[in-house]
Amino acid sequence: MIALLGATGAVGRHVLRALPGEVRAGSRSSGVDIDDDRSLASFVAGASVVVNCVGPSHKTAARVATAAVEAGADHVDAGGADAVIDPRGRRVVFAAGASPGLSGLLPRWLGSRGTKLAMYCGVLDRFTTAGAEDYLNGVNEPLAAWRNGQVKRGALTRVSDVDIPFFDEPVSAFPFMDAENEAVARSLSLVDGDWYSVVEGKHLLRALGERKGLCEASALDLAGRSPRATFVAELDGRTAVLRAGSVAELTAAVTVAATKAVLRGDVPSGLHRAATVLEPFDGLDVTVFDAPLSELAVEEGAL
Ligand SMILES: NC(=O)c1ccc[n+]([C@@H]2O[C@H](COP(=O)([O-])OP(=O)(O)OC[C@H]3O[C@@H](n4cnc5c(N)ncnc54)[C@H](OP(=O)(O)O)[C@@H]3O)[C@@H](O)[C@H]2O)c1
Repeated sequence: MIALLGATGAVGRHVLRALPGEVRAGSRSSGVDIDDDRSLASFVAGASVVVNCVGPSHKTAARVATAAVEAGADHVDAGGADAVIDPRGRRVVFAAGASPGLSGLLPRWLGSRGTKLAMYCGVLDRFTTAGAEDYLNGVNEPLAAWRNGQVKRGALTRVSDVDIPFFDEPVSAFPFMDAENEAVARSLSLVDGDWYSVVEGKHLLRALGERKGLCEASALDLAGRSPRATFVAELDGRTAVLRAGSVAELTAAVTVAATKAVLRGDVPSGLHRAATVLEPFDGLDVTVFDAPLSELAVEEGAL
């Protein structure tokens, strides 16, 4: 049995629809409160895997994962990037979402090793309160990049009103290094790597600068438009492009893929990030081009 927490949330409701087999679904509205030890322990008892979609994950992930492994279950979290717990011999997968998660995994569509990587991750979608809090709490080094096999501070600069192939309009791009990028750089044995967070909306751009009001700003940017996530990876002259609708659906697809990998026994015991332990999986709109991004600006128009 899979025990799913946060089953009524933006991410959890998509996860609930796609999980295989018997699922016990819970949230406060169905009488489960993860802040109450007894309620949490009784909800996860008897599960083979606990899936957490309750956020903000920097407050919930360690607590829920600990309850899962204490109950003898494996664990998958849609967030929880930086949580550290004793896995007690179980399989624990954190950061099984869109970003972090797929943002780190996408280069694997291009190969398991490489020299030079550039990643662009853009989302035009509504932030939930939990998602906004996790985003602002994500620890990263702005303007840093991976150079000659290590993190180099101040290697890159922010760019505004720039055209990047596969993004529909001029965007702003923020370079950053975080623990996921570093783990990906090491697992691919990269020499150089650049990661950019791409912001498509003017309201969100301002809110990010002020570090508040992300939910309202993202809703304003989305007004009259359809939500979309666009991730682009260029590895040694080849390019992978992922296009998706809502970020909650994309996150759920990764959470479900991670849960299935855990159920199959494809994930070794211990603490992992989804980006470094999952294999590329089906069901996503990923296109691979045997060309660098710079050549695809023209090609895209011809498609
Ligand atoms: N990596 C990524 O790209 C990515 C993207 C989006 C989201 N996420 C992560 O996914 C997680 C869920 O985000 P979301 O946007 O789906 O949030 P959400 O829409 O606010 O949903 C939260 C869910 O948790 C439940 N919940 C809240 N407090 C609870 C408690 N104390 N006990 C039990 N259940 C509780 C809510 O239901 P009730 O109110 O009824 O309890 C609801 O079902 C967050 O950690 C977020 O950071 C990751």
